[in-house]
Amino acid sequence: MTLNLVVLPGDGIGPEVTKAAEDVLSAVCKGAGLELKMSHHLIGGIAIDETGNPLPEETLAACADAQGVLLGAVGGPKWDGGSVRPEQGLLRIREALGLFTNIRPVRVFEGLEHLSPIKNAAGLDIVIVRELTGGIYFGERQEGDEVASDLCTYSAEEVRRVVAPAFEIAKARNGKLTSVDKANVLASSRLWRRTAEAVAKDYPEVTLSHALVDAMAMHLVTHPNDFDVLVTENMFGDILSDEAAAVSGSIGLAASASLGAPGTPGLYEPIHGSAPDIAGQGVANPSGAILSAAMFLRFGAAREDLASQIEAAVESALKAGVLTRDLGGDANTEEITSAILERL
Ligand code: NAD
Ligand code: IPM
Ligand code: MN
Repeated sequence: MTLNLVVLPGDGIGPEVTKAAEDVLSAVCKGAGLELKMSHHLIGGIAIDETGNPLPEETLAACADAQGVLLGAVGGPKWDGGSVRPEQGLLRIREALGLFTNIRPVRVFEGLEHLSPIKNAAGLDIVIVRELTGGIYFGERQEGDEVASDLCTYSAEEVRRVVAPAFEIAKARNGKLTSVDKANVLASSRLWRRTAEAVAKDYPEVTLSHALVDAMAMHLVTHPNDFDVLVTENMFGDILSDEAAAVSGSIGLAASASLGAPGTPGLYEPIHGSAPDIAGQGVANPSGAILSAAMFLRFGAAREDLASQIEAAVESALKAGVLTRDLGGDANTEEITSAILERL
């Protein structure tokens, strides 16, 4: 069997962390007798520099043909203020590939509780399901000198198609789903809540509860262990997933899978950005990218066994104390990657 993966390293630490993920994927596939074909393409700031377009047609065509896409990160101060932004490349690829479901798991591994900045994070194991192709990110936008606006629109179908997989994930775990909204203020949130209630009828084995996003931000640091699966709209999910990742120890640990219709290629990327403050130093934590590669094996290649193998190796390397700077250690990207490779 051959796996066909497109790699989009992007900007800043993007190429540093995707390189580590590629090395781990190559090693795992070799061990399993799988042929892994990887091709590299442009996205983000580097794509603007070379083609004027943050998502060149050629890149999109390659992604549409692949079994999965591994992305590093896009953006950086160099392109801030320009009329074309690197981030537009990322938004366009999510939209073009129809990646409406973004799965962002966050865990605190046993023995690694000390990495969390809060004292009651032991055993944390949650999954944030973020809507990824709707809401304020994709609504009508107006940008004037004195007035600007971004419209948040959701259709019931857009809510249904992301809430349903969240129920499926909850059903396969502890049967607990929390839908996060701002229904006390926003009409789009009231539609979200009503729709989630309607979908719940198809999942009698799952208990659905609702939380307002401001309170949820608080709960995530006061008693994160009360939660299992969260589902929420695009921007709330963006913010809460950075917060949850920080609670687990570092944003450098957090992985994600962005999925669309069954049988179409998914996008696998760490949730962090291009980290301009540490780019080029070889010190980025590649764990989020490596764990995203594991998610590719799980969802894009149906190889749960190989995904678990990578996850166990990452967990073991961290437990052995091979920690990058973001986790309070002094290992560099190469050292943690080698420690993970040794444990496969
Ligand atoms: P960021 O996630 O890049 O960095 C926030 C902080 O976390 C920084 O101090 C950084 O050094 C640290 N950090 C992030 N990833 C790390 C890692 N793997 N290892 C160690 N430390 C890590 O967020 P930002 O600084 O707000 O954004 C920088 C740029 O990245 C912006 O242009 C933004 O638009 C872009 N961005 C891109 C993506 C993406 O491509 N998916 C995601 C978020 C932000
Ligand atoms: C993320 C990022 C992106 C988002 C940006 C870079 C467009 O923050 O993947 O979380 O807001 O979705
Ligand atoms: Mn984000």
